[in-house]
Amino acid sequence: MTRMQQPTAVETQWWKTFYDDVAMVVLADQDPDVIRDQVDTITRLTGLSQGQSAMDQCCGLGQHACELAIRSVDVIGIDQSPLYIDHARRLARERHGGAEFVVADALTYQHAPPVDVVYNWHSSFGYSRDDAWNQQMLHAARQSLRPAGVMLLEFPNMLHLLANFQTSISSTHPGGVSLTRTSRICASTGTLHQVWEYRMDDRSVRTHESSLRIYLPDQLIQMFRDSGFVDVNAFSPCGGTLAADSPRCVIVGSNPSVE
Ligand SMILES: C[S@@+](CC[C@H](N)C(=O)[O-])C[C@H]1O[C@@H](n2cnc3c(N)ncnc32)[C@H](O)[C@@H]1O
Repeated sequence: MTRMQQPTAVETQWWKTFYDDVAMVVLADQDPDVIRDQVDTITRLTGLSQGQSAMDQCCGLGQHACELAIRSVDVIGIDQSPLYIDHARRLARERHGGAEFVVADALTYQHAPPVDVVYNWHSSFGYSRDDAWNQQMLHAARQSLRPAGVMLLEFPNMLHLLANFQTSISSTHPGGVSLTRTSRICASTGTLHQVWEYRMDDRSVRTHESSLRIYLPDQLIQMFRDSGFVDVNAFSPCGGTLAADSPRCVIVGSNPSVE
């Protein structure tokens, strides 16, 4: 899993244009109770507590980071989208939490001073078919962690996704946005390719494409180990035992205590 491959045209940093104002409508449409439950899972699995520090790698609109700041965690969120970081900063001001946000590339960004916990939540990993490229995200996380700090990655459980594959999924969102996601597996690259068609209430249509590398939970565990993490384990979305039919998986590993 180390040799670099050339990304395809759609893979050429597709996320730089994908995460725009309309994708933001969908990302913002997350139940605050669900976000709180997810933050409960993050704190339980990493041992993160009041007064400690965390980095949200690919923080999106900052919902998880702001919830942690309310719980007195010193949190920094990073994301490549200036639009999303602006939104996250506004959310932090509204909630009177002390979360900070920075526009940065998570593949290279290393935070100083090192933090107690890094988390990467909700399909923000595996954007290239190139394993070495994807693994940079774990290397960068490790460089941001103190010795014995903990890294948590939340990702689709591809075992479940493949066994329950749906070629088309539709949903509706605030502001009259309806979304149809059409999915296919590209067997030769091992990627999940999706076309996202957004229909607005003025009848205009916007289309984006995404590509996610298919990593099974055991492959993610191996990538953690290859990046130098120890005590690596996989959990279900609520932090219980991971099963083949868990829809998503959470991988947790520790930075070694002595370098
Ligand atoms: C599916 S969203 C998840 C956002 C957030 N973690 C959540 O759970 O709501 C993925 C996010 O990853 C960000 N992202 C993707 N690749 C990135 C990179 N290389 N560096 C920084 N941010 C990145 C995108 O801009 C987007 O906000």
